Amino acid sequence: LMDGPLKGKHIVVTSGPTHEPIDPVRYIANRSSGAQGTAIARALAALGAQVTFVTGPASVAPPEGVKVVKVETAQQMLQAVQRGLPADAAIFAAAVADWRVENASDSKMKKTKGGTPDLSFAENPDILATVSGMTKGRPSLVVGFAAETDDVIAHATAKRQRKGCDWIVANDVSPETGIMGGAENSVTVIRTDGTEEWPRMSKDQVAARLANAIAEALA
Ligand code: C5P
Repeated sequence: LMDGPLKGKHIVVTSGPTHEPIDPVRYIANRSSGAQGTAIARALAALGAQVTFVTGPASVAPPEGVKVVKVETAQQMLQAVQRGLPADAAIFAAAVADWRVENASDSKMKKTKGGTPDLSFAENPDILATVSGMTKGRPSLVVGFAAETDDVIAHATAKRQRKGCDWIVANDVSPETGIMGGAENSVTVIRTDGTEEWPRMSKDQVAARLANAIAEALA
């Protein structure tokens, strides 16, 4: 573990997409490279935090110096987060699938002439809202993300209240921003004590600045 302002702090970070199986070879997923969550975990570890990194099947490699817990589904991600607690802070950067296929098949579904599968869906647990609402053992700082395409601040402010988290890191993911899957991000941090618009910078710089803010909040 590195020395730094987060020495002695344990932080759980979720990252990447989740995959919700349809059958053994097919799944439903979200578009997420895991780049921002990975950068955040790395930045927290660089400030001395002990990091539990719960990741779905991401396209970037997990950082060094953190405890990596690999999961596939939202339900597994929730369980891994709960097992990872207690923590001083929890940062939910994962793009969790909102629904899972309730009637997933154990064997590969066959194409039948003219037929399409009858998939039925169940809502996945909201990991951020679940941890934010803990009455016992809630991390003292819970941070969520909000990917919005319009009215970013209004939607993210409402989301912070609805989810019960302390901060929301909001970003504009309209296709023309090129943020989804790109190397840069432009975020607005919504806290109980006001909002802060950060200039467009690399995802690594967003991660470093967020890690510093977290260190300040936990100090
Ligand atoms: O509701 P929405 O998906 O926009 O909220 C995004 C935030 O909630 C992110 O921090 C994401 O990691 C978290 N989330 C979660 N579990 C879900 C859905 C979203 O932790 N099932």
